[in-house]
Amino acid sequence: MLHQCIDALNIRRDGVYVDVTFGGGGHSAEILKHIPQGKLFAFDQDPDAMTNHPGNENLTLIQQNFRYMINYLRFYDAIPVDGILADLGISSHQIDVPERGFATRYNSLLDMRMDQKGSRSAADILNNASIEEMARIFKQYGELKNGYPLAKRIATAREEHPVDTTDRLNEIATPLSGQKNANKYLAQVYQALRIEVNDELGALKDLLYQAEKALKPGGTLVIMSYHSLEDRLVKNFLKSGNFEGKQEKDFFGNPMVPFKTIKNKPITADEKEIEENPRSRSARLRIGIKL
Ligand SMILES: C[S@@+](CC[C@H](N)C(=O)[O-])C[C@H]1O[C@@H](n2cnc3c(N)ncnc32)[C@H](O)[C@@H]1O
Repeated sequence: MLHQCIDALNIRRDGVYVDVTFGGGGHSAEILKHIPQGKLFAFDQDPDAMTNHPGNENLTLIQQNFRYMINYLRFYDAIPVDGILADLGISSHQIDVPERGFATRYNSLLDMRMDQKGSRSAADILNNASIEEMARIFKQYGELKNGYPLAKRIATAREEHPVDTTDRLNEIATPLSGQKNANKYLAQVYQALRIEVNDELGALKDLLYQAEKALKPGGTLVIMSYHSLEDRLVKNFLKSGNFEGKQEKDFFGNPMVPFKTIKNKPITADEKEIEENPRSRSARLRIGIKL
């Protein structure tokens, strides 16, 4: 959905833009083509992403979590900005490098940290967290109905031997997939761990608050998310400025609406794109114009 994102940004040649999820640099490269006199600030917390800098002098690439975006934009005197883009989640590079531990299909250590300076890896959680904490993670972030039995099974297994590789986790979790396709079940287990390890929802909330402050009136926020927990936060925030979607009113009784949304429903990929890039099947694109 690269072109929908770029169209949504409505780029000005001399504008200031932010790509908070640089990754392989595909979206940034497209933005750079449109800003011969402008500036792009890009963020990625993964040191591996820094090697994708295209050498363009209009780009400042910052190896940081986007939850600190506003501090860096202030430091570079870049506020207010014309547009902010986020393409959330993990990159194909992160999935394809077995040692990162994000993929069910390779046997590797269960790391899952996007920034390996981050505190807890997935293996740390599986070997040290209480059954209650693991159950919460699986239920809340994996939306698994049997989060508690899974957590108990992991706690029993780790008494014999640490649960520190993808193969071992797959072996422990697969029997609990029940009627569900085992790969789908494992994908939910991995999603839950990844969200917890990287505090993905906490970082997204911080980003949304800061985006409202950093954008100029008329500036655009473009967010692509890949699961319903993220999409719900984005949808509610664009509509109401809070994560519960509660409509608040100002002193005069006027609804406080931070963004004008282009559509109530998210934009999704068409069949052709899903065929070319299966990951786009779950993509949800939302666009807000700062009021
Ligand atoms: C889906 S990829 C982005 C791909 C990119 N749009 C491209 O064209 O190649 C998401 C990237 O965002 C990064 N990321 C995710 N959450 C982040 C956060 N809180 N702070 C900084 N980077 C983050 C990941 O490390 C990953 O490289």
